[in-house]
Amino acid sequence: MKLTVVGGGSTYTPELVDGFARLRDTLPVEELVLVDPAPDRLELVGDLARRIFARQGHDGRIVTTRDLDAAVDGADAVLLQLRVGGQAAREQDETWPLECGCVGQETTGAGGLAKALRTVPVVLDIAERVRRANPDAWIIDFTNPVGIVTRALLRAGHRAVGLCNVAIGLQRKFAALLGVAPADVHLDHVGLNHLTWETGVRLGGPEGEDVLPRLLAEHGDAVAADLRLPRPLLDRLGVVPSYYLRYYYAHDEVVGELLTKPSRAAEVAAMERRLLEMYADPALDEKPALLAKRGGAYYSEAAVDLAAALLGGAGSPYQVVNTYNRGTLPFLPDDVVIEVPAAVGPKGAAPLPVPAVDPLYAGLMANVTAYEDLALDAALRGGHDRVLRALLAHPLVGQYAQAEQLTDRLIAHNREHLAWA
Ligand code: G6P
Ligand code: MN
Repeated sequence: MKLTVVGGGSTYTPELVDGFARLRDTLPVEELVLVDPAPDRLELVGDLARRIFARQGHDGRIVTTRDLDAAVDGADAVLLQLRVGGQAAREQDETWPLECGCVGQETTGAGGLAKALRTVPVVLDIAERVRRANPDAWIIDFTNPVGIVTRALLRAGHRAVGLCNVAIGLQRKFAALLGVAPADVHLDHVGLNHLTWETGVRLGGPEGEDVLPRLLAEHGDAVAADLRLPRPLLDRLGVVPSYYLRYYYAHDEVVGELLTKPSRAAEVAAMERRLLEMYADPALDEKPALLAKRGGAYYSEAAVDLAAALLGGAGSPYQVVNTYNRGTLPFLPDDVVIEVPAAVGPKGAAPLPVPAVDPLYAGLMANVTAYEDLALDAALRGGHDRVLRALLAHPLVGQYAQAEQLTDRLIAHNREHLAWA
């Protein structure tokens, strides 16, 4: 089996490689290709990846290259984990929206829109090249904003599934609180990428007993503290929102906080410099503990599971993924991308039925779905007015004066990445 990682020079890659090494019975990778335009990083990360495989006795071959077409040729699955413009562009996304009173975040709000506009054309170009090389290859997209990027891929007819680690992270956390194995926890997870709620926590599988009321009663303080949301909110909702919902439920509070501290991008950039120094040490042959301070915990496990299931191997039968709605959430159009548990196999992902969704969540999902539609239109066709329409539709923006200011800033800060600007 050949697997290709686009953005393979990322400092995250050792997490992925560690997962491939540990979980090789689930996903037997014979050739792992890391492709990246930045040669220095790529070689540092590639060498460490080889040492991780060697230490764990994995005899798979690791290839590093800058040649995308060669990298995807013959690949069974291609993982996309790229960041157009790097942490510098992310830093901008997290900064200028604050000047207009809007949250500065890499996937939520105006910053997320900027990221979508930079990213969608690049990902579509890569996907075309994957399809030319091997029309049967699966594309696993981690590239944010995952909902919009996956929608772009599916609409262009690609064999793609979008993946995020929020669900697997909560599954692990809840399992620890409940004192059970993670595989025994099935989440009723519903929403759009980075806009999800856990409406049930079941033991043993999709039909298992729902222990969410017990989890909230016994561990509500710990869950609330982790999400940095007030405990009474969780008690009133009776469900567990993802930490991205804090940008909605506590928007103004978050803006206030962000104005007083360095951006997450700056923090991550500092961590990346440190990580690269560590990767350069030829004695290092495992992923360093510092990597756990990044948001991507468990993403290698989610990736191995998904790739294994798509490629007909031993992946878990039900996984939380991003895929077409197709009637799963009847209040949303069929061709929007939702994030829900799905049965995953070589034919792709088929969402499991979802219980009726409370209007409290359905309304926000519908609103953000409409925003994502307009965001994708702006990403594909460009133009000031399309950007403005997306921002007017966004529940965290909406006001005309603010949307105008944000539009001007978005375009000004992203000119070098936008062909139309
Ligand atoms: C979580 C999200 C990812 C996001 C990451 C950011 O893992 O699911 O989509 O990329 O956090 O983490 P970072 O360490 O870059 O802030
Ligand atoms: Mn994510």
